[in-house]
Amino acid sequence: MDQGTEKYIHFMKVGYDLDISIYDRSFLEKSIKNRMNATSCKTDEEYLSYLSTIPGEPAGLLYQLGNSYSEFFRNPLTFAYLEQVILPVILEKKKIRKEKEIRIWSAACASGQEAYSLAILCDEMMENTATGVNCRIFATDSNTDELTRAKCGEYQVASLGKVPLKRLITYFTWQNETYTIIPRLRNYIDFSVFDLLTEKVGCPAASIYGNFDLVICSNLLFYYEPESQKRILEKADHCLSSGGYLITGESEREIAKENGFREVFANAAIFQRK
Ligand SMILES: C[S@@+](CC[C@H](N)C(=O)[O-])C[C@H]1O[C@@H](n2cnc3c(N)ncnc32)[C@H](O)[C@@H]1O
Repeated sequence: MDQGTEKYIHFMKVGYDLDISIYDRSFLEKSIKNRMNATSCKTDEEYLSYLSTIPGEPAGLLYQLGNSYSEFFRNPLTFAYLEQVILPVILEKKKIRKEKEIRIWSAACASGQEAYSLAILCDEMMENTATGVNCRIFATDSNTDELTRAKCGEYQVASLGKVPLKRLITYFTWQNETYTIIPRLRNYIDFSVFDLLTEKVGCPAASIYGNFDLVICSNLLFYYEPESQKRILEKADHCLSSGGYLITGESEREIAKENGFREVFANAAIFQRK
């Protein structure tokens, strides 16, 4: 490993008791480079000195590592399968078993785009089939700032590029260049803080016991080293109901397969336990 990177790992461990060795090495190195550029530091020595003297910078580096980019309907193929196949199949199962609730976990929801996209699909499905079955979405993230933004439900046009006009009109209001989620959609979602790497709890407290029909854990696995990826996927698996589905990011499909999941639709990043 790069000697410079080792120094940062040591610095964050000793100074803040934070283990940044869990992050994928190339992602870690890229994040450090980005912070070096942003702070005009030319060498590792300069940036290490900056990190130890400027109080807000360790948080700046952590924020960079927590990359929270998201958008509505981020992977269109996955959301199309969800809408056309997976959610209707789950609904049928609920009706046969006379169960009243579809339970979904958006396990790294950033500022809420993924959870609200799911809520839109659920709302449309409920509208089309009056069944007496409800949808409940538990949306969690380790970053409290992101969760505050998620609860606020206000978005700039940049994260809405994949939302068709009909959904924009139905589910958002528009004012001062900002799109705001309508209150009905918020009612589907329970936002809370949850660190997927914590050893203390297995699933979000509000969900009580997990038992999710669907867990979305997308676009965060690739930031981590294989050991942490395994821990996160074990946690997701533990919270799934029997026959439940796991969704990852498009570029994380191999990680899920290596950890014992079977892809249900080729290229769509939708899995079940093997
Ligand atoms: C790139 S965003 C992905 C958001 C969304 N899932 C998507 O696919 O668009 C990654 C999110 O993972 C969150 N995250 C990273 N590590 C986490 C952890 N250990 N536990 C919970 N959330 C985590 C970050 O805070 C960030 O909001």
